[in-house]
Amino acid sequence: MESTTTQAGYEGDYVQRFQFYLQHSGEHTVMREFMDKVLPAEFARIGEGKSDLNFLGVGSGQGEMESYMLNILQSKFPTTPISAHIVEPSIALIENFKASVTKAPNLQKVPFTWHPVSCADYEKQVKGMGNAHKFDFMDMIQMLYYMDDYVAVIKFFHSLLREKGRLMIIHEAAGSGWGTLWSVFAKDLCTKSVTKYISGGDIKGELDKMGLKYEQHSIPNTMDITECFVEGSKLGAMLLDFMTDQDSFEKAYSPETRAKILDLLRNKCCTEKNGRLLFDCSLTCFLVHA
Ligand SMILES: C[S@@+](CC[C@H](N)C(=O)[O-])C[C@H]1O[C@@H](n2cnc3c(N)ncnc32)[C@H](O)[C@@H]1O
Repeated sequence: MESTTTQAGYEGDYVQRFQFYLQHSGEHTVMREFMDKVLPAEFARIGEGKSDLNFLGVGSGQGEMESYMLNILQSKFPTTPISAHIVEPSIALIENFKASVTKAPNLQKVPFTWHPVSCADYEKQVKGMGNAHKFDFMDMIQMLYYMDDYVAVIKFFHSLLREKGRLMIIHEAAGSGWGTLWSVFAKDLCTKSVTKYISGGDIKGELDKMGLKYEQHSIPNTMDITECFVEGSKLGAMLLDFMTDQDSFEKAYSPETRAKILDLLRNKCCTEKNGRLLFDCSLTCFLVHA
């Protein structure tokens, strides 16, 4: 299943910008803490009585979170065969993921199937084959922003869940700094990889409309963006490029628009602590039932 890829995922400078964001925000750290609290019991329930377990990561990037979850799953079911499928269109990121798996002693027993394609291409391939692979657990972490039709994506992948399975969606929370920034400045920001911003609140609304059952968890987080307000700061410029999804925040907008965005960031998206400006980048997790 490695043919006809439509280029969709993170490539080029965006890969570096995303890695920088992950380090600066501590986003994966808060996710790991959340997974440690919630997933052992979820996995125990999902896997009870099953003779094998199938895991699917969608838009997994370099797979740090998928590897972490597979470790938790293995520790719950050390003798049950577990297989992993990964759908990730960014060649750079999926190659990094593959390299990390070869170096991870505890993942050597897990056979991985790599799908270096977009969700849309994966869906076409699955439908073309007729006999779809089904999964006990699947995750979509911080990736639904890039879908042309995220509702159709959720519907399709949800249809691949096995009995007692769960689809885990982790996404920027409604009312977080991201939601405020991207809804107020949608016209200026939704011009590149994200053409229509969706928040955790939008996803919740659609899950309700589809009549799907789910649990919702909140994963609070903040990121220090004080440097965005320091004239000439390289760190601040990198943060602003990532937060506005532009190659250069400085070049993309007029001085007036930049001032308005900075004003909103400072006054509506941050709290102040010990002289630092902390941007609310909280997340929401939905655990959607099969
Ligand atoms: C914000 S990153 C999140 C990566 C990873 N889940 C994480 O949280 O570290 C978004 C990911 O979605 C992937 N992506 C973008 N468009 C996609 C598509 N159409 N189908 C599947 N994945 C896509 C990108 O390549 C990237 O890996």
